[in-house]
Amino acid sequence: MRNFCTSGPVNKETCYYIERPDIMKEALDHIENWRYFTVSAPRRTGKTTLLKDIVEKIKDKYLPIFISFESYGEKRKVEFLRTFVKDINRSLKGLYGKMIDLTIPGSIDDIRNLIEEITEKEGKEIILMIDEFEKLDEKIMNEFLHVIRSIYHDREIYKLRSVILISIGYLSGILEDNASPFNIAEHLEVPYFTKEQVYDLLKQHEKETGQIFEEKVKELIWHNAAGQPGLTNGLAYDLVMKKAKGENIITEKHFEKTLYDYMYVYIDKNIANIINKAKNEKNLIMQILFEPQNVEFNIYDERINYLYLNGLID
Ligand SMILES: Nc1ncnc2c1ncn2[C@@H]1O[C@H](COP(=O)(O)OP(=O)(O)OP(=O)(O)O)[C@@H](O)[C@H]1O
Ligand SMILES: [Mg+2]
Repeated sequence: MRNFCTSGPVNKETCYYIERPDIMKEALDHIENWRYFTVSAPRRTGKTTLLKDIVEKIKDKYLPIFISFESYGEKRKVEFLRTFVKDINRSLKGLYGKMIDLTIPGSIDDIRNLIEEITEKEGKEIILMIDEFEKLDEKIMNEFLHVIRSIYHDREIYKLRSVILISIGYLSGILEDNASPFNIAEHLEVPYFTKEQVYDLLKQHEKETGQIFEEKVKELIWHNAAGQPGLTNGLAYDLVMKKAKGENIITEKHFEKTLYDYMYVYIDKNIANIINKAKNEKNLIMQILFEPQNVEFNIYDERINYLYLNGLID
């Protein structure tokens, strides 16, 4: 039996799952059109889940390489290159069950040779997807983007069909450089769930278990989590596994207990993150709460941008 997913990307076999057909189609179209594009959204919105789903959809036709720069922050060049190749192989093994013997590039610029080598050995067009791209050291990131940019002009020769960079914030600055192959217009944002999607998620549980959420509870979940995917699943999981375990109907009373625990007892990652970020911009947050008419939503204002990217305001 499936359940609500409370950590990491969603495994469709063990967790309730919401399809995101619009954004999926957009991403697949970009891949068909040889585009290099970016995907961003605040923490726990479903970026990795979406990208993993894309991998499944394209893996027969193309050669997706899905790696994460999550632990790359401290790495220096030599170590970066070695880990990069290892991670590429790990991704191929996970998808196709085999590793390829690859030469570790001597420099970041030599990554072009690595791409050629993979193409020659595999004979399929490559889709390079990098999760947590913002974790990369800035200097290495610059050089890395430089190679990607030079490959882009000859991408049909290299057979690097698409490059997708995933991050929590829009990678402004470097990517907006005129010479960057990453076009602002092709930036995808993963949105929070709509009300219909939240209700659909809860319905999956009702259908599979027979346990029912009172209408009022559905509304409260929607209202309190505002469609934030991680939090929506978290609240629902607490209700079905703790507050209303074994009950046929989940009531407002159960929800009150869940909400209380979320606010005062649990250290929930989503909420802890929001409180920490709010502390860093306490004065601005106070202004937004108590004098919203005096605050303009301007994404180029660094402080507004920071609160937006961390999911505090929208
Ligand atoms: N398609 C989906 N259907 C159901 N739940 C989802 C879906 N996508 C995301 N979620 C919920 O959001 C949580 C986070 O998903 P995921 O790890 O993919 O997000 P993320 O944006 O990559 O997060 P992070 O920035 O922390 O890496 C999941 O644990 C699950 O609760
Ligand atoms: Mg992720």
